Amino acid sequence: MQGRLALQLALAASLAVAAASGLSAAAPEPPDPGLRPYPGQMNVAQSDYVEHCGGCHGIGGDAAPADLPTLKGRVGWFMCLPEGRSYLMRLPNVARSRITDNDQLADLLNFMVFGLGGGSAPAGAKPFTGAEVAAVRVSPFTSVSLVQTRTVLVEQVIRKCGAPASLRLMYPGQKAAPKATKAG
Ligand code: HEC
Repeated sequence: MQGRLALQLALAASLAVAAASGLSAAAPEPPDPGLRPYPGQMNVAQSDYVEHCGGCHGIGGDAAPADLPTLKGRVGWFMCLPEGRSYLMRLPNVARSRITDNDQLADLLNFMVFGLGGGSAPAGAKPFTGAEVAAVRVSPFTSVSLVQTRTVLVEQVIRKCGAPASLRLMYPGQKAAPKATKAG
């Protein structure tokens, strides 16, 4: 218990430092004023996200009502299980990203889960490292396996971590859950 608390305090402190250094470096305005500080290099990760992911997912991580998952305020839930971490790194658009530098891709993912994800990442979740990304991105999902993988994973995240039931949907308020048989 004590170790976990210490970890949370250490994370809170490092987030505070990241926030302070971001301010002193006169970082450009984040795309969404609701963004929270996150570990990693703020400016590079954010613009990488906008360039490589924002066209589909929206620069603030919310593309609803387009039929693809909202990242804002909820993508951090996947960090609560090892399978969820791995899921994020094995997504085709992540694993096969044109960003070949694994530290840079880890920073982008950290921006996504801790920045766009806001409070959805569990307290004490460890940031991605380049070494971790390098080891896992060599096994990307195919788009055929992706929907089924997400369906199974989301049930675990809801049951074991207490994520909201709306995680089953692409975005809260979506009319119908995606069909497991359809290739995504
Ligand atoms: C060409 C459009 C496109 C681009 C570019 C793209 N994505 Fe996606 N992304 C999707 C679609 C579509 C899905 C849903 C996949 C499915 O379930 O079939 C998805 C799923 C995801 C998910 C899963 C979220 C969840 O709730 O399951 C994450 C995380 C994600 N993308 C992150 C990224 C990141 C990070 C990048 C940039 C490196 C990126 N995406 C680039 C279209 C895109």
